Amino acid sequence: MQFTVAIDGPAAAGKGTIAKAVAAHFGFAYLDTGLLYRATARKVLDGMDPVAAAKALLPQDFERAGLRTAKVGQAASKIAALPKVRAALVGFQQQFARRDGGAVLDGRDIGTVICPGAEVKLFVTASDEVRAHRRWLELSAGNEAVSEADVLAQLRERDARDRERATAPLKPADDALLLDTSGMSIDEAVAQAVALIAARMG
Ligand code: DC
Repeated sequence: MQFTVAIDGPAAAGKGTIAKAVAAHFGFAYLDTGLLYRATARKVLDGMDPVAAAKALLPQDFERAGLRTAKVGQAASKIAALPKVRAALVGFQQQFARRDGGAVLDGRDIGTVICPGAEVKLFVTASDEVRAHRRWLELSAGNEAVSEADVLAQLRERDARDRERATAPLKPADDALLLDTSGMSIDEAVAQAVALIAARMG
């Protein structure tokens, strides 16, 4: 059975949490596509050419420490604007999406570019302040000393770059279901997503 769930949205809207929970609920495989860009960016920060780095990604590159830091996130957003970097990562994502048994992918362009034929498309949002607070909690738990105001400013900068780039910008697909998680707990957001997907599965 092939069944693809595409989950897109801005940084720290709850995509990853929802995607993981949805995958566990339905027994689908899960791919965090942001990690592809983060792992590529990590190599670029080490001095590698962005396109060469994207083409040469290996499983162990996803195990590296520091991929979730704000620094790597910003670098990921920058190299993600390069069409050749994106092109190098399309094949892997599309193959993953069509694997037997169902797949959930989260990112920025899954419903629009990677899987335009996905059976379910969700666009997950939350207010800037709510997203900044969540990301600040995450970073603080990971021992990154940052102020919430700095997190908010960086998040806005990264979202603007992701929205305004020419290639595969962050935006909802025309047929995406919108899920605003601002006032929701994790459990509520997951329950809503599961219900939307279950309704589509029939
Ligand atoms: O989801 P994330 O915060 O880990 O993503 C890091 C950056 O990677 C994000 O700011 C933009 C880029 N990205 C992208 O361009 N397309 C995707 N499908 C996923 C991430």
